[in-house]
Amino acid sequence: MKIILGVTGCIGAYKSAVLLRLLQREGFEVLPVMTRAAQQFITPLTLEKLSGHKVVSDLFSDHTVQIEHIALARQSDLLVVAPATANILAKFAQGIADDFLSTLYLSTTTPVIIAPAMNVEMLHHPATQENLKTLKQRGTVIVEPGSGYLACGEEGEGRLAEPERILEAVLNTFTRKKSLLNKRVLITAGPTIEALDPVRFISNRSSGKMGYALAHEAHLRGAQVVLISGPTHLEPPEGVKLVGVRSASEMAKAVFHHFPDSDVVVMAAAVSDFTPASVFSEKLKKEDVEPVIQLEKTVDILKELGQRKEWQFLVGFAAESGPVREKARKKLKEKGLDLIVGNDISRDDQGFQSDSNQVILIDCEGKEEELPRLPKTDIAGILWDRIQNLESRIQKNALRS
Ligand code: CTP
Repeated sequence: MKIILGVTGCIGAYKSAVLLRLLQREGFEVLPVMTRAAQQFITPLTLEKLSGHKVVSDLFSDHTVQIEHIALARQSDLLVVAPATANILAKFAQGIADDFLSTLYLSTTTPVIIAPAMNVEMLHHPATQENLKTLKQRGTVIVEPGSGYLACGEEGEGRLAEPERILEAVLNTFTRKKSLLNKRVLITAGPTIEALDPVRFISNRSSGKMGYALAHEAHLRGAQVVLISGPTHLEPPEGVKLVGVRSASEMAKAVFHHFPDSDVVVMAAAVSDFTPASVFSEKLKKEDVEPVIQLEKTVDILKELGQRKEWQFLVGFAAESGPVREKARKKLKEKGLDLIVGNDISRDDQGFQSDSNQVILIDCEGKEEELPRLPKTDIAGILWDRIQNLESRIQKNALRS
């Protein structure tokens, strides 16, 4: 297997030598490509000697090179860019081809993994965020940068992910290839909105990020994905059938409709437990009503699925503000689930709205796994790995008995 390793100009470029070695240790042949700026941070000779291949960086270094980017793109199985500066992200997102690496990107048809590294403000700038969003929608795997001391002297997000994490993304890309092929996956995401009158409603702070990340990952693994989502500000992932709903009862109707045609169901939505007993068709006037809202319970969708389930593999979430482990275990049992993902929502730095979370996985065989705080996109990958393992184990056991 051949991997093109693109290196762009930032201080993290030195880590590309370590990544190159890690990739070789896994048996990959690495073809290095450097931008001119990258060569200010690490010499081409280093990557040339380590890889045993000439480093390409210039489109016009000799007359044969003009089509070399196409030849190189055809030869390889994966393009990894680490570190990727804000500049190269912008070029990739917009399709600007003005140097060897950006031209190569346009000619490649392989999966692409990008590990951004830059100053925290540059990372959070709407332009960079838009570019990252565009690339993600195109199916590019982004290895999120870590936090810590940055070369500019500031503290924050923007450090190139450790080479081990980038290697993991590379290995995942190869192993997950079509690992969910022919699986029909149903995922719910986001909040529900329970109307009180035409302008007022009860809802919650769920952003939908976890469910959307799960849907994106399942699609990359080859699954047919139906994503039933409450209102969010997120772009629907590429290749996924999106069913938009508002209330808990609309979500229940859509889930029950798709359930018989599903193999795996992941209820990541924060479904409202209560809804106003009456919905007023006109905006309520303060003179006309008592300041009391009468609520009634919504249907517990997941519990209902637990009772209806035949072959389906059921995954639930437990958003808790107390002892997560015990409460999640209880929900796993009560709702008839195969796997539950528990998280503590009382912490401001994780869970609802945040891009990262710290979760505990508890399965129906009693196994527990506490994950460190990770980007939700990484949690999605780990969760699908665990779902696939557990599902095939359950199926094997069922065949044996
Ligand atoms: N859920 C559901 N239907 C509901 C409420 C929740 O399907 N009406 C699902 C959620 O999508 C989640 C799981 O059940 O996967 C647990 O949701 P959570 O809000 O943590 O718990 P509840 O079941 O609402 O229980 P409690 O109010 O006791 O926390």
